[in-house]
Amino acid sequence: MRIYEEKNYENLSLRAAGLMAAEIIKKPECVLGLATGSTPIGTYEELCRKYQAGIISFRQVTTINLDEYLGIPSEHSQSYRHFMEKHLFSHIDIKRENTFVPDGLPTDAEWECTAYDAFIQSIGYADLQLLGIGRNGHIGFNEPGLSFIKETHVVDLAEDTVLANSRFFECLDQVPRQAITMGIGAIMAAKRVLLIASGEEKAEALHAALCGPITPACPASILQVHPDLVVVGDEAGLSKVPEEVKRCR
Ligand code: GLP
Repeated sequence: MRIYEEKNYENLSLRAAGLMAAEIIKKPECVLGLATGSTPIGTYEELCRKYQAGIISFRQVTTINLDEYLGIPSEHSQSYRHFMEKHLFSHIDIKRENTFVPDGLPTDAEWECTAYDAFIQSIGYADLQLLGIGRNGHIGFNEPGLSFIKETHVVDLAEDTVLANSRFFECLDQVPRQAITMGIGAIMAAKRVLLIASGEEKAEALHAALCGPITPACPASILQVHPDLVVVGDEAGLSKVPEEVKRCR
């Protein structure tokens, strides 16, 4: 594990985008695993700037997203497909046919999960998987539970997650209660995992993820055994991680 401690959110975003850009430069046809939520927005903004400056091109890149709400169409303003269009895809030269987000309105959700896994496997998993972290330690929408679920699956969102995500909807009732999420298997199969966390509200979760026991009660804790985990946090996000852990780079 390597930890970058950045002064603030802006520097965190610059660092994370720099690491992602390096991956694209090293392997122009790379597979990027992408995340949603507020945290990666600055990273995506910086990636767009790098594209506009001619430093990187996404022409050969394939993207696979972690998750999607179940029950809302891709055109919905809060769907994760819409999020990706708004914050990244519409500003860069990626081919839409190379961007993959689970379908939020599948006719058969189980089939959609199986097909998503089979597809990710067929392209050899992500070269770099970007991850945020939920306040309860979730990654993608892998919520705390009794076991790590390897496969892409339908998940009932934790009450805390619904509450946290309600800030993007007009009212709590509008927040979908279910989602499709990539499982722990595909996340762990990524060649590199880039975990980003910002702000005091993530400090507890990040501490549990990096320093606590490896347990499905904190899904992100499984990342401790990933062979190439890179953590980029700001000072507030990393405030509960002891110095000796931060130094072990
Ligand atoms: C959602 C997403 C996660 C994300 C989390 C944290 O639940 N499914 O992938 O990591 O939110 O989001 P934020 O960065 O807004 O705190």
